[in-house]
Amino acid sequence: MKKLLIGLLLVVATETHAQDAKMNAFVSNLMGKMTLEEKIGQLNLVVPGGGTVTGSVVSQGVDDNIRKGNVGGLFGITGPEKIRKIQDIAVKNSRLHIPLIFGLDIIHGHKTIFPIPLGLSASWDMGLIERSARIAALEGTADGLSWAYSPMVDISRDPRWGRIAEGSGEDPYLGSRIAEAMVRGYQGKDYSQGNTLMACVKHFALYGAAEGGRDYNSVDMSRIKMYQYYLPPYKAAIDAGVGSIMTSFNDIDAVPATGNKWLLTDLLRKQWGFKGLVVSDYTAVNEMMAHGLGDLQAVSALALKAGLDMDMVGEGFLTTLKKSLQEGKVTLQDINNACRRVLETKYKLGLFDDPYRYIREDRSAKEILTPANRAVARETAARSFVLLKNDRQTLPLAAKGTIALIGPLADSKNNMLGTWAVSGDLQQAVTVREGIRNVVGDSVKILYAKGANLTDDTTLAKNVNVFGPRAEIDSRSPDQLLHEAFNVVQKADVVVAVLGEASEMSGESASRSNLDIPESQRTLLKALVKSGKPVVLVLMNGRPMTISWEDANVTAILDAWFPGTEAGNAIADVLFGRYNPSGKITASFPRNVGQIPVFYNHKHTGRPLEGTAFQKFKSDYLDVPNTPLYPFGYGLSYTTFSYSDVKVSKQNPAGNETITASVTVTNTGKYAGEEVVQLYLTDPVASVTRSVQDLIGFRKISLQPGESKEVSFNISTQDLKFYNSDLQYVWEPGEFIIRIGTNSAETKSATITWRK
Ligand code: BGC
Repeated sequence: MKKLLIGLLLVVATETHAQDAKMNAFVSNLMGKMTLEEKIGQLNLVVPGGGTVTGSVVSQGVDDNIRKGNVGGLFGITGPEKIRKIQDIAVKNSRLHIPLIFGLDIIHGHKTIFPIPLGLSASWDMGLIERSARIAALEGTADGLSWAYSPMVDISRDPRWGRIAEGSGEDPYLGSRIAEAMVRGYQGKDYSQGNTLMACVKHFALYGAAEGGRDYNSVDMSRIKMYQYYLPPYKAAIDAGVGSIMTSFNDIDAVPATGNKWLLTDLLRKQWGFKGLVVSDYTAVNEMMAHGLGDLQAVSALALKAGLDMDMVGEGFLTTLKKSLQEGKVTLQDINNACRRVLETKYKLGLFDDPYRYIREDRSAKEILTPANRAVARETAARSFVLLKNDRQTLPLAAKGTIALIGPLADSKNNMLGTWAVSGDLQQAVTVREGIRNVVGDSVKILYAKGANLTDDTTLAKNVNVFGPRAEIDSRSPDQLLHEAFNVVQKADVVVAVLGEASEMSGESASRSNLDIPESQRTLLKALVKSGKPVVLVLMNGRPMTISWEDANVTAILDAWFPGTEAGNAIADVLFGRYNPSGKITASFPRNVGQIPVFYNHKHTGRPLEGTAFQKFKSDYLDVPNTPLYPFGYGLSYTTFSYSDVKVSKQNPAGNETITASVTVTNTGKYAGEEVVQLYLTDPVASVTRSVQDLIGFRKISLQPGESKEVSFNISTQDLKFYNSDLQYVWEPGEFIIRIGTNSAETKSATITWRK
């Protein structure tokens, strides 16, 4: 068996070697024919405008530049007809006929929009996440694209940062598993298939740690913290074979990521062995001028020498590299290296075999927004929701009686898709009002009232309406809206209030310093609560919000994030018990903004607080507990689960042994349900300070009422490892506490001693 395996591995290695040699020969031959200008042209990634533009600058004279060989790739254009026309220019009218690569921000679905990534992560369902990326790849390639600017794997502990919506929350272990699942989903086994996309992991690196949660802000972090908590998901994507990586806007150790040689060459290429393409973020090369690193020529040379291959939109490479070469500021080898990687990428995508591989006019009508894709989106959305509170088992609702459906998000197509749905059609989105009707028909009487504006603050409304109306101020006065809601509530048995953020209140350039539900909606909610009727809050949000008041005062809270195209159907499925919620939050919900950063894998400190009450001279606050409102991994179900004590197969393992830790989980309620069983590890004594606990495993199981299942995890020294002061990834013998439970704050534990 072993021999057979070695034999197989040898065959694969020999084949890979032969393929690489073939690719190298092809690229070398092509580069032999290229002028310096043509080589530099390959490093230029443009956005023509007219399509989807995600930054403040667009490229000019694109057709002409393609003809001259000044363009390596394009993004922001969709549709096989349009893309064919542009590819024609490159393939038929440029001197060497080198095909272009076509990218886009396909982030949580292409046309069938899935929940925002923070919501997707709350499903803890890797199969489902992979499937969402697979469908995005099918739709994206059917639309002429070959390159997706996803997954975004930036760890964030700061919900003020709007882009926390685009990532998988605060944990590096879960973030890494999701990164792998997304790469598998987009790329399949091989991204040259014509219906698979090359993925692009971003934003390398540490973008989620922007100071103060303000987008594009500086990042300053110790190496040990990077290695332990922030870098693992990028590394996981690379190990899963991601084809490309995008640099981030921030600086790291006082050098912007886009020009940071330590990051792009020493770490990425030399330590991690990444062989794919490195692209800058939108005008990130040029932005190094504003960072204060010199003029366009200087920053472009810096980026190339650091290891950047492709310059997005800014044209710093296109316009200055020749001069830098003449002045000895870059070498021909630097340019050749970058050009080679762009050409290799095109080769791996199969574009030299067939430049039109991804351009198939027959596919789009058949494969985009199909009922089957929408069905998966609906299921995925339902599985991403997190039940935060459910007093008196108010949910699920019975499909009878009268429901007052209230709130500015209850019937708003414009806000269902969430941030970064650049190809999503708002009109395709199902609102909550429509979804409830679809699911329960006439068996329930629905009385709807808007009740409040999303916000009454005209400046905030203007700031979030840059891509079109998301937070419109109604022509009726706030009092009138409230009055209408009140009238409706009087006639109802239960209130369902759909409130929260507008979809563009999170995402890029959407940081907030106040994480409350906007005042106008809080006022509405207070009035609804005062009516004495049970109030179910369906929250829409791109980040953890500060909802302590809501938690204390409403009857039930269902966090729906931004659910995507099938929003209303999925919400109705969950409200009426067609699906029992199983999501768990992946970023802690703070009690107030002053607590930020509040996250589960924090350090002990030298003065840890025991319990929750304030103690003088301990690490705590005078005015708020240390704990978050809802901890990482938290989420309820319509049923209840009980956990047995933790059993370990061995108390005193040694060396490279593998042990098991297990619990029996029982469904003690009356609904069938799913539970995410979470495994954490505490290392009480080490040569460096460790987190109080780290997630090292999880399993999602489903149980019928009364059913029990044993869940067992293998644990080896690999799970005990951490980065020491010399940045070596090691484990140190001694005591370890293994914790298993329903969320990071509710676990059962067993202590073991692992000997050398
Ligand atoms: C964002 C990236 C995105 C790029 C291209 C930038 O502004 O930071 O995440 O991929 O634009 O649209």
